[in-house]
Amino acid sequence: MDGFPLADRPRRNRRSAAIRALVRETRLHPSDFVWPAFVVEGEGERQPVEAMPGCERYSPDVLVEEARATFELGIPAIALFPAIADDLKDAEASESKRADGLLQRAVRRLKLALPDLCVITDVAMDPYSSDGHDGVLRDGEILNDETLPILGAMAVAQAEAGADIVAPSDMMDGRVGYIRDALDAAGHDHVGILSYAAKYASALYGPFRSALDSAPRGGDKKTYQMDPANGREALREVDLDVREGADMVMVKPALAYLDVIADIKANVDLPVAAYHVSGEYAMIKAAGERGWLDADAAMQECLLSIKRAGADVILTYAARDVARTL
Ligand code: PBG
Repeated sequence: MDGFPLADRPRRNRRSAAIRALVRETRLHPSDFVWPAFVVEGEGERQPVEAMPGCERYSPDVLVEEARATFELGIPAIALFPAIADDLKDAEASESKRADGLLQRAVRRLKLALPDLCVITDVAMDPYSSDGHDGVLRDGEILNDETLPILGAMAVAQAEAGADIVAPSDMMDGRVGYIRDALDAAGHDHVGILSYAAKYASALYGPFRSALDSAPRGGDKKTYQMDPANGREALREVDLDVREGADMVMVKPALAYLDVIADIKANVDLPVAAYHVSGEYAMIKAAGERGWLDADAAMQECLLSIKRAGADVILTYAARDVARTL
């Protein structure tokens, strides 16, 4: 190709590791991450989660030590999910409101040992519900407005225990405003709300539900979680949550919804979070275990793409593994 007029050569900027480092647009940092962790009753307890290699359910004492190690890696926040014993589950998720419930005790221990760690708690009925749904179920219907007081009381119980941020993941209409009012009325106006604003009815939550035994006992979550086909509707959900007082908004899952993350980032000035969910984590781990791909490299690439799409905050089970390599 003698004399071929190729003036524009993007490859010049890729010639060496040094040049690539100079022109790199996106970088992962441990402070991007929130580490989601499962809590179980007991002492000295570590129960591996089969479908999530590398993840375990910890009793509160072990959780404190694991959280300390996580914080020392530069990861500023943890999101907690309790595995509730079957005999404590009921139709109203009563266990979720108790001051001495498992989650509340875990939060108290964490904040006592690690006051600077940001503790995020999930507000939703499903791990506590005998129906496995995020709302009150009656005659086959999920009742929106009957669910709100339960969510409000749950959020207040978590705030009293010391949660820094509560994260409603239930997708009931109006819950962010309801929870904001409930928190303020109880004197917790400093507690933030990270709203799962665009949470989709996804097949990628399977491993999480097996970790908590929280799958719906009947039906599915399609009357409250969003249809994966819809992108514009996510902006409507986000807009409502912003007006109701959310401090950060989240998209969930992450990888199959990068367009939604980018749209929300372009339209909202609040911090945008993305949840790289259990199924997204499990897919990479499973392929890695079979030798079908390099799991560490694939994980890093996926998380980088979530940040590139616009996420300011990433919830990922791989947070600690990736932070160690950065
Ligand atoms: C509960 C909740 C779920 C997840 C986070 N909070 C499951 C669900 O909605 O069924 C899923 C997280 C994951 O898959 O990693 N409302």
